[in-house]
Amino acid sequence: MQRIRIKQALNAEAGMDQALVKGWVRTRRDSKAFSFLEINDGSCLKNLQVIVDADSPAYGNLGEITTGYAVAVTGSLVESPGKGQKWELKADSLSLVGEADKDFPLQKKRHTDEFLRGIAHLRPRTNKFGAIFRIRSEVSYAVHKFFRDRGFFYVHTPIITGSDAEGAGEMFRVTTLEPGRAGEDLFSEDFFGKEAGLTVSGQLEAETFATSLGNVYTFGPTFRAENSNTPRHAAEFWMIEPEMAFADLNDNMDLGEDMVKYMVGHLLDNCADDLELFAKFVDKTLMPTLETMAKADYVRLPYTEAVEVLKASDKKFEFPVEWGMDMQTEHERYLCEDHFKKPVIVYDYPKEIKAFYMRLNDDDRTVGAMDLLVPRVGELIGGSQREERLDVLKKRLEELEMEEAPYWWYLDLRRYGSVPHSGFGLGFERFLMAVTGVTNIRDVIPFPRTPKHLEF
Ligand code: 4AD
Ligand code: MG
Repeated sequence: MQRIRIKQALNAEAGMDQALVKGWVRTRRDSKAFSFLEINDGSCLKNLQVIVDADSPAYGNLGEITTGYAVAVTGSLVESPGKGQKWELKADSLSLVGEADKDFPLQKKRHTDEFLRGIAHLRPRTNKFGAIFRIRSEVSYAVHKFFRDRGFFYVHTPIITGSDAEGAGEMFRVTTLEPGRAGEDLFSEDFFGKEAGLTVSGQLEAETFATSLGNVYTFGPTFRAENSNTPRHAAEFWMIEPEMAFADLNDNMDLGEDMVKYMVGHLLDNCADDLELFAKFVDKTLMPTLETMAKADYVRLPYTEAVEVLKASDKKFEFPVEWGMDMQTEHERYLCEDHFKKPVIVYDYPKEIKAFYMRLNDDDRTVGAMDLLVPRVGELIGGSQREERLDVLKKRLEELEMEEAPYWWYLDLRRYGSVPHSGFGLGFERFLMAVTGVTNIRDVIPFPRTPKHLEF
């Protein structure tokens, strides 16, 4: 017999005489004549109600079934007299695939996010986390589709790298395990005699491919050794980094805006049920913000004007507002949530607060940087036009007292057919926070790695 997923069963056009469904029991209710099981198989948010008639042979197999059991049920898919669902399964046979111990932690009650973080291996079996990770999967697909439709090539940049892409000194060091040695001495100091770290960004390598294949993007894990215990920073997070040759800052802003709109649009079209859960239980203002993110024209504002807007506001900020400051989340959120009430792209930042590779503007004090800010999270995208002039780039490295040696290949790109090029990084978890209303980054990544989280 053909197995069907619960999503298919619940969207069936007509009833079925013979259906096989496999999943995990969420709840069980018994009456004299029937037992009711709510089962979920992860394919969608909703459960399938299974009716086991006391007269049916399936009844004898019910045994001790409790929450968490894995079962396989065959029967007929019939219209449900109850409200809330169109179809239910009338069981003919039922088999226990896997028992669940009585101490299964996900009993039918609301659990705190904090508690669920401690059981990251079980939390995808809850409604909320099932929904988050289905959305995560669907939006990943949308990202690839967006770029593929526009002729971008997907490049796999290295995880282990010899250069610090941001020059911010936030790399984890990679070391080699020395066999046969115990305890503290287990790790040698380096990577086969060289210094290496986990990548903080695939950008520099993506630049080499942009200046070969034209338009490219990366989509992979990145690592930051910043010891920041904030709800928006993780030590391991996923970043999407497009890079375009023959493109300036305006092209970059256009791409960022188009991409965010596309991702939100795809989500609205494909994840309605899962989104509804967040709109109902997590953030009541979710749907209007998503509509705005998908449709509004985003504001584009030079940093200098953004500072003026912040200065003119009545809001008391924790961090003082002055030209030259690195914008804090409170400032970013004020701009997009309170002042403009839609996504804002701030560009042309002071060079002092931005990375070495950003293109110096003619004023000599700002660079062609852009940050795209969205409600709930503030900075979602950080990007720039890249410095394509060899002499200017070398001077900048010198000013920052950065060694040229690890970047020899990066400088080569400026020696051989250098072209204006631009790109950005979109923090995938930040995006998921913005579109679900979930306020802690630990809850949108399957296995969070933050200073306090490394369960396994
Ligand atoms: O602004 P960032 O540091 O920019 C770069 O890494 C550039 N090399 C990207 C590029 O131009 N190709 O990071 C980009 C985005 C941020 O806007 C933020 O959304 C996310 O990555 N991000 C983090 N997300 C979670 N945890 C962290 N610790 C993050 N740091 C940055
Ligand atoms: Mg940034």
